[in-house]
Amino acid sequence: MRIAVLTSGGDAPGMNACIRAVVRKGLCEGMEVVGVRRGFEGLISGDLVVMTSRSVGDILHRGGTILKSARSEEFKTEEGRARALRQIEMNGVDAVIGIGGDGTYRGLASLAAMGVPTIGIPATIDNDIGSTEYSIGFDTVCNTVIDAVNKIRDTASSHERVYVVEVMGRNSGHIAIASGLACGAESILTPEIECTMDEVCARVKDGARQGKTHSIILVAEGANSLARQLCPEVAPGQKVHLIGQEIGRRTGFDTRVIMLGHIQRGGSPSAADRILASRFGAKAVALLIAGEPVSAVLGLFEGVMRSAAFDEALMMKRSCKMEYYELANILSSL
Ligand code: F6P
Repeated sequence: MRIAVLTSGGDAPGMNACIRAVVRKGLCEGMEVVGVRRGFEGLISGDLVVMTSRSVGDILHRGGTILKSARSEEFKTEEGRARALRQIEMNGVDAVIGIGGDGTYRGLASLAAMGVPTIGIPATIDNDIGSTEYSIGFDTVCNTVIDAVNKIRDTASSHERVYVVEVMGRNSGHIAIASGLACGAESILTPEIECTMDEVCARVKDGARQGKTHSIILVAEGANSLARQLCPEVAPGQKVHLIGQEIGRRTGFDTRVIMLGHIQRGGSPSAADRILASRFGAKAVALLIAGEPVSAVLGLFEGVMRSAAFDEALMMKRSCKMEYYELANILSSL
């Protein structure tokens, strides 16, 4: 059996660990493994490279993806997909393993629909894939945010400031909520949970009355509603600045704004992400060997690895952990 592995969409720490697991488990099982460079773009152009055990040496601890990644517009067209299918046939590829987020899953689902056995492995720092509790990269990004906020808190405390910190999460607040709980954020703003400027400022002022000298407010990138209450036309990059200005004006605290940006996507994967990525990679190969079901996505629920059909997986929604959000608010309100 000749299998292809690709990474697509935004990179996530642990993708390399997963590529390594696919390649080495595949080789152990007597398969031939090829890597596809630049995700679906490479599938269309036939940019394939034969993988050996040595091709994946010294990558377990590295962030990013050695296979490179892209968000392919061409693969969304019928012609692009037809070209990819021709390359799959010409290169004798029997099955494809794709590592990525929801956009990657949609691409993989169309490959599966064209009759190519396909396995999807969840990897996105946003952790917003419905068919798994944890995606590769999520644990590492939370650790990165916590590390950054620890440093910011030193200065916030020394200078008695409010810091408004924007974290990633295009349409979801998973990063903001989990890292907010773990770093004791005084307020967490997410796309899923409505909240007003009065509430945020009241929390800052209540804290000050109780002797708090500084506050951290974590804002998920996709949390639009608060900024829109202040200015309906606000541009994405300006949202967090607008929120910071208004908090400063209303509370009287010296308020600073930090956007953590792409430092969140890089870095050496955490132990949890390396383990998860290794398990997912090996399981994907095992599923292909078993042959049933022919195409599927992998997920983790309460520590147990499960597979689901693409259609089912794409319809599943992952709501944010309200219990974490509420606990974070309780613990930071005193
Ligand atoms: O999906 C992961 C993610 O990092 C989102 O949190 C963010 O909105 C987006 O990718 C940024 O994408 P790009 O790197 O293409 O700007």
